[in-house]
Amino acid sequence: MTVESTLLIVKPDGVRRGLIGEVLRRVEAKGLRIAEMRMTTIDRSLAEEHYAEHRDKPFFGDLVEFTTSGPVVVARLEGEGAIDVWRTLMGPTDPAAAPPGTIRGDFGLVITENVVHGSDSPESAERELKLFFDA
Ligand code: RTP
Ligand code: MG
Repeated sequence: MTVESTLLIVKPDGVRRGLIGEVLRRVEAKGLRIAEMRMTTIDRSLAEEHYAEHRDKPFFGDLVEFTTSGPVVVARLEGEGAIDVWRTLMGPTDPAAAPPGTIRGDFGLVITENVVHGSDSPESAERELKLFFDA
């Protein structure tokens, strides 16, 4: 039994499209706990730090532009195996290939606008949660 914390972000496209409730409904229905949550707009320096691992990728500029393009909802999810469980609910990165039943599979169409973010490992979760929440 390992209770974990992970970072959820409803990205700007998800907020614009009115999908906050749908995303959080799925999180709660699964049994994950929303331990902390707020709405914010991510500025350029925070977006660059959050996605630092992609700094040298060709899509980095577009990714930062998109991430800062409007309000987001950030939350700390808590639960047994929360990191992998949240990634499973999200689905694969490219919504075009994501299976129905996943958030990206049900609501996304193109890779640049894939509705949600989730930490991909315990190390990422720890690093990312520090960027958005105290302690
Ligand atoms: P995220 O970090 O946002 O939860 O997404 P992820 O782990 O599933 O995917 P990651 O490899 O971390 O990529 C971060 C975001 O960059 C955009 N991306 N664009 N044009 C491209 O080939 C490309 N590849 C990735 C996606 O929006 C992805 O969510
Ligand atoms: Mg990622």
